[in-house]
Amino acid sequence: MKVNGQHFRTIWLKPDDETVVQLIDQRFLPHRFVIEDVRSVEQMATAIREMHVRGAGLIGASAGYGMYLAAIEATARSTPVGVDEQLARAAAQLKATRPTRSIADEDAEHCRMIGQHGLELIRQLARKKAGKFAMANPSGGGPINVLTHCNAGWLAFVDYGSATAPIYAAHDSGLPVHVWVAETRPRNQGSKLTAWELGEHRVPHTIIADSAAGHLMQRSAVDLVIVGTDRTTVTGDVANKIGTYLKALAAKDNNVPFYVALPSSSFDWKLRDGLKEIPIEERSAEEVKQADGWFEGQQVEVRVAPERSPAANYGFDVTPGHLVTGLITERGVCEANEKSIRALFPEQAL
Ligand code: MRU
Repeated sequence: MKVNGQHFRTIWLKPDDETVVQLIDQRFLPHRFVIEDVRSVEQMATAIREMHVRGAGLIGASAGYGMYLAAIEATARSTPVGVDEQLARAAAQLKATRPTRSIADEDAEHCRMIGQHGLELIRQLARKKAGKFAMANPSGGGPINVLTHCNAGWLAFVDYGSATAPIYAAHDSGLPVHVWVAETRPRNQGSKLTAWELGEHRVPHTIIADSAAGHLMQRSAVDLVIVGTDRTTVTGDVANKIGTYLKALAAKDNNVPFYVALPSSSFDWKLRDGLKEIPIEERSAEEVKQADGWFEGQQVEVRVAPERSPAANYGFDVTPGHLVTGLITERGVCEANEKSIRALFPEQAL
């Protein structure tokens, strides 16, 4: 997608030296656009653990590039340790970085297809909305207001994103869209990353506090919610960034369609009960007690809570399938239940 008018992916091989992987270091966004050179599997593990790269799809892709670097190192070193053994070690090292990695090996083409299927949904809603408002306002119903949470944008994948792919497809096809961007405390992936990438692509958007979503839905200011997922059960439960579940509840109460966009690699075909079976990442309490920002040309952290108060920092929550209107995948849209999911992916044996 576009950065300052130029096309970028989130990760790529350095054009003049293919032993080096380059990635956008997302810790500095939206304040600075920094490209990091990664030369070893250790460096890649650090980049994942310390969230230079993040988002399930991009974590998967980065781990893949990490294995590529490990293979280069292993073949370059003529040590008695076998190449296979060195690669197995590298795989274990990457696996230990963040728990969502193992389900994420998305590719840009799947995200592009998600965009096309999601675009159809947005078109239908736009037609419905224009029809509803035709008497009162002959110019139509205005833009489709999409609410999203966290960053399931191109920065979380390799290109296009999952939740943002339909938004970009609609915007690029001339269909007016406006996005409510939930800030997504404590790390603010919404206000920092989603807002930045939408802005770079010139998509109209407004940042809101996480707690404002229900209020907007009650006032009919949200036509549709689209979020991503880090891990999805075969029964349609989705684990996504903490706060997603509350948005799904508010959407249900206000009859707002709540869609989850995902490449099929986010399905875990063995899981049936998201609440019981999906481990939830617990991160440092300091992330909740502090906020970071840009001050006089530097990234600074400030304390926003009493120093001695304990804090808990859950990274994800699980939204049960019955709260999800539909899943937008690279093959099309299905309901968030086993029958519908299996009908779309019949090759996945029981
Ligand atoms: O920034 P992260 O890696 O902790 O956040 C994970 C996510 O990107 C979100 O949960 C996103 O909505 C899922 S889409 C890959």
